[in-house]
Amino acid sequence: MDFLARTDFHITTWVVGLILFFVALAMANPKVVHMILRLDYLFIIVTGMALFMKGMDYGEGMLYGMKFLAGILVIGMMEMTLVKKKKGKPYTTFLVLVFVFFFIALFLGFKLPMGINFLA
Ligand code: HEM
Repeated sequence: MDFLARTDFHITTWVVGLILFFVALAMANPKVVHMILRLDYLFIIVTGMALFMKGMDYGEGMLYGMKFLAGILVIGMMEMTLVKKKKGKPYTTFLVLVFVFFFIALFLGFKLPMGINFLA
């Protein structure tokens, strides 16, 4: 999976995911968009895992672990938001959590040594 360990691939997948999430959230019937978003989750996770495995060479296992968790939680909270909305239940808490974990993932991603690291 070494060829997938590229931060530009990873960034592309989560930017697409973020856009699809907000499009789905704004739609009355987001069935198809939600389906495409779920496929994109897989791409985010696969590229993230490839980076994670490569990242184990940098001796910052703890921060990589937290980055992994934050990334997964962004996806989990996106999914919860859309499912709650679909069921007509309140979803504001989950939407706020999407932002919280998104900024944690963003911060850790830009801090860790691969790719862009202006926060290091
Ligand atoms: C929507 C969710 C996610 C967002 C917003 C996000 C954001 C980012 C950002 C901004 C970077 C830095 C790219 C760069 O330095 O050029 C990054 C890198 C990385 N991400 Fe994610 N990510 C997400 C999901 C995931 C997931 C699910 C995983 C694990 C399965 C993961 C693992 C990693 C790893 C290991 C790196 C490399 C860190 C480094 O050394 O720079 N990410 N991510």
